[in-house]
Amino acid sequence: MQITLQVKRFNPEDEAPAPFFQTYSLDVPEHFTVLDSLIHVREEVDESLALRCSCRAAICGSCAMRVNGHATLACKTKLTSLASPGGSVRVEPAGNLPVVKDLVVDMEPFWDKVQDIRPWVQPEGEAPEAEYLVPNTDMLHLTGVVGCIMCGACVSDCTVLEVDKNFLGPAALAKAYRFVADPRDGATADRLKLYNEYGGVWDCTRCFECVQVCPKDIAPMERIMTLREHVIEAGHRNTYGARHALAFEKLVEHSGRLDEARLIPMTYGFFNVPKLLGIVPVAIRAAIKFKMPPLFHRPIQGADKIRGLFERVRAVQSAEKDQGSTE
Ligand code: FES
Repeated sequence: MQITLQVKRFNPEDEAPAPFFQTYSLDVPEHFTVLDSLIHVREEVDESLALRCSCRAAICGSCAMRVNGHATLACKTKLTSLASPGGSVRVEPAGNLPVVKDLVVDMEPFWDKVQDIRPWVQPEGEAPEAEYLVPNTDMLHLTGVVGCIMCGACVSDCTVLEVDKNFLGPAALAKAYRFVADPRDGATADRLKLYNEYGGVWDCTRCFECVQVCPKDIAPMERIMTLREHVIEAGHRNTYGARHALAFEKLVEHSGRLDEARLIPMTYGFFNVPKLLGIVPVAIRAAIKFKMPPLFHRPIQGADKIRGLFERVRAVQSAEKDQGSTE
């Protein structure tokens, strides 16, 4: 199969280091993955190409990179899934991490954030002499997130990390969830306090990129949303993030749709003048484009049915909680 690989190169030892795309025209077997073709380049065409890989079986996570604009495991991605014979495939290093050389990124910032969430079980009191006995269902539930191979694909494509390096990021927060949900862990209260801070669960914008690119279906964003629920249940309600979520719920429950004009002061606080003044330019731009939300908000027809839905959901949640506490 004829294929053109456009590989983003970068060598910090160049005289004037700057990234550029290098094109390789290859004739490779149809069963080749992106990683096979990169190894082919390195072994047969250009031994200066730097890339990282190990297991070649989607297990170790070391070959995460951007292929045609999205993060993926190069060893899991077949060329035929990306291009027809004669087509081209663009390969770049993973995003949101410093590039060491060509397709190799520095994972240290990634591991620092994983370390920040305290990724170890902190048992309450003494550890049992023999072993922990936990319900099978609890461990089964955890297997979904324990399957993370720490490849960094989610971090690569995280739209928040692109603008705010302080965000813990989807991989670290999915790992954080793994310990909050672990019945052997006794540090949930401290953990939730930590994850509630700036850079924690409230900084996710729910763009779904991490869910889409995760090669192991860990769905980091959904773990972050569950952590948010735990954070609120634990009583941490005085951050902008928590107040925004609670105000959103309250407004929709009240009138069946969002009252955006009230959402902002309810999030920031009605007397938080500096923050509210900061919104004025946005409001002016919205008004100029006729997108200003109405100042007088009326409930939609059938809003009482929406309220009924909220009540039913709350009843189910409280029944589940009662059941959990009696088990
Ligand atoms: Fe191990 Fe790709 S080489 S996951």
